[in-house]
Amino acid sequence: MDDLLEAARAAVDSAYTPYSEYRVGAAIETADGTVYTGCNIENANYSNSLHAEEVAIGAAVRDGHRSFSRLAVSSAARDGVTPCGMCRQTLAEFCDDDFPVVTDGEERTEYTLGELLPATITSDHLDR
Ligand code: THU
Ligand code: ZN
Repeated sequence: MDDLLEAARAAVDSAYTPYSEYRVGAAIETADGTVYTGCNIENANYSNSLHAEEVAIGAAVRDGHRSFSRLAVSSAARDGVTPCGMCRQTLAEFCDDDFPVVTDGEERTEYTLGELLPATITSDHLDR
């Protein structure tokens, strides 16, 4: 079993999901091998809800990390959930197209961020 996916599965247990009851966990590995985890944290104002991936990457960036090697994401349902569009864009701020995204369905599936979010807007566009 992949250690990073194991960490994402463990983070599912911290999810706060009184509204959707859909629990998600994520684990991101930094370039130096540190692992940060996150879970979804919902809110009575639904749109304030935090996604597992943004909680994980937010904690890593808060600690000064800017370079990442892999992400794993899991849900309690183990249904192969992938990061949503917003989370893909958040990852693309720091990660290249070849960044691996591991998901947890009947089988462990590995995507690249470029597959999940092609033709991404990046800071390069803002420089033109
Ligand atoms: N969710 C995540 O945590 N990550 C995603 O990228 C997909 C969606 C959460 C948000 C909400 O709490 C629940 O899953 C249902 O959408
Ligand atoms: Zn998301």
